[in-house]
Amino acid sequence: MQRLVDAATLRATVQGWRATGERIALVPTMGNIHEGHLRLVDAARAQAARVVVSIFVNPTQFDRPDDFERYPRTPDADADALSARGVDAMFTPNVEIMYPHGLDMAAYIEPTHSAQQLEGEFRPGHFRGMATVVTKLLNLVQPDCAVFGQKDYQQLAVVRAVVRELLLPVQIVGLATVREADGLAMSSRNQYLTPAERALAPRLYQALQAAGQEGAAAEAPLPAIEAYHARALNDAGFRVEYFRFRNAQLAPPAPADGRRVVLAAAWLGKARLIDSHPFDVARGQGTPG
Ligand code: PAF
Repeated sequence: MQRLVDAATLRATVQGWRATGERIALVPTMGNIHEGHLRLVDAARAQAARVVVSIFVNPTQFDRPDDFERYPRTPDADADALSARGVDAMFTPNVEIMYPHGLDMAAYIEPTHSAQQLEGEFRPGHFRGMATVVTKLLNLVQPDCAVFGQKDYQQLAVVRAVVRELLLPVQIVGLATVREADGLAMSSRNQYLTPAERALAPRLYQALQAAGQEGAAAEAPLPAIEAYHARALNDAGFRVEYFRFRNAQLAPPAPADGRRVVLAAAWLGKARLIDSHPFDVARGQGTPG
């Protein structure tokens, strides 16, 4: 595996592969590689002969400076894990490469309606920073496809919207959330949980699954289900920011939807957990649509 730090070498490497007709896949990450990332690598490998993994803890998508400062950075362990999984190149640019004129002088991508609710409501500027850095990475690597996890369901929707609106020639692949044995979605932030909080954490996904069953009828009372689960999680020791149903495109749910998703963000001690659960809407006799 090649370890690349500058844009010129990255571009030359990728151009060399492209010249021989090889397909290229990008997996953008912020590092601290875990099994969830490695499954994205496997999915990328299934799509392309060459896999590039970028590792960049992007300052512009953090809404809290302390979260940026303490975000786990483990480049050598990441390199070992990615190399063992057959990654061709690990790209670890610094801030000067990604934001050559500084964070204030940079041009930003401003995603609109898909980004203004849910995470966008609680993390101002997050999707602007995320969309900007992902667009830069897509420009640098110019991959045939890029792979993202569905855990960050809204992030995936925002990335798809940006790619569509900016006419970027890349296929976006979404991969189902990778979970621990007890259902907790894998995330680098899980390591902030104390042992007691870690034991409680799977309740978030259990609540999403239960809400998914309860919310699967076309006319289900979704606001009441949301309120019930948010309250139950708060009573259990979480601090819920949102627990909401949307349709698969993240618009407010309607009886005619074929598919819905229930999404949540909740603090547990010092860890902010996010998760989501997409599900089909049951089509009973006499149900419209
Ligand atoms: O999901 C992440 O790790 C980040 O938001 C991403 C896509 C790498 C952009 O910084």
